[in-house]
Amino acid sequence: MIKIAIFASGTGSNTKKVIEYFGNSPTAKVELIVSNKPSAGVLQIAKDWPIDSLIIERDQFYNGDHYINVLKEKIDFIVLAGFLWKIPSALIDAFPRKIINIHPALLPKYGGKNMFGNNVHEAVIASGDEVSGITIHYVDEHYDHGDIIFQAYTNVVPGESAAMLAKKIHALEHEHYPKVIESIVKQSFNEAL
Ligand code: GRF
Repeated sequence: MIKIAIFASGTGSNTKKVIEYFGNSPTAKVELIVSNKPSAGVLQIAKDWPIDSLIIERDQFYNGDHYINVLKEKIDFIVLAGFLWKIPSALIDAFPRKIINIHPALLPKYGGKNMFGNNVHEAVIASGDEVSGITIHYVDEHYDHGDIIFQAYTNVVPGESAAMLAKKIHALEHEHYPKVIESIVKQSFNEAL
């Protein structure tokens, strides 16, 4: 059984879908929720399920190997779902090709440091693009930059608001993220399963 940690700092709708999807899976389970925000909705989801959670602090996350040791002991694979801090290279080295992220646009467009939430959808609408979508990718040292694993698309309807587009993007994320995680986990741990 592959043990997954989800790193998230927002409301956690993707986190919830992933937890539910792996609820009865023989392949993997969500073992830990990691957040940098004590008030994050995702921590309530962890509590309700219940799943262990870990609140991380910036200094410790970027210096030393405290969290790396804890994570190495407890989990095998890391899924980011609305986690806004950059992942330090020490953590990437500790989990090579075993950290993935979901982004609410078609990378390489509309990625980078301040490209999250409605900023992304507003930028897409302002650009006049007729298509947007989601990108699931491996995580490297740069924001929204690692190799792309999967993309799915949706039309941007003329006159659509950022909130309406966000809703469609969220639905795409919920539909695809759990399945893509499952297939990547299976690929990454082929021999162990
Ligand atoms: C998602 O739109 C995801 O693409 C981005 O952060 C958002 C998290 O949403 N990385 P939620 O907290 O899962 O609802």
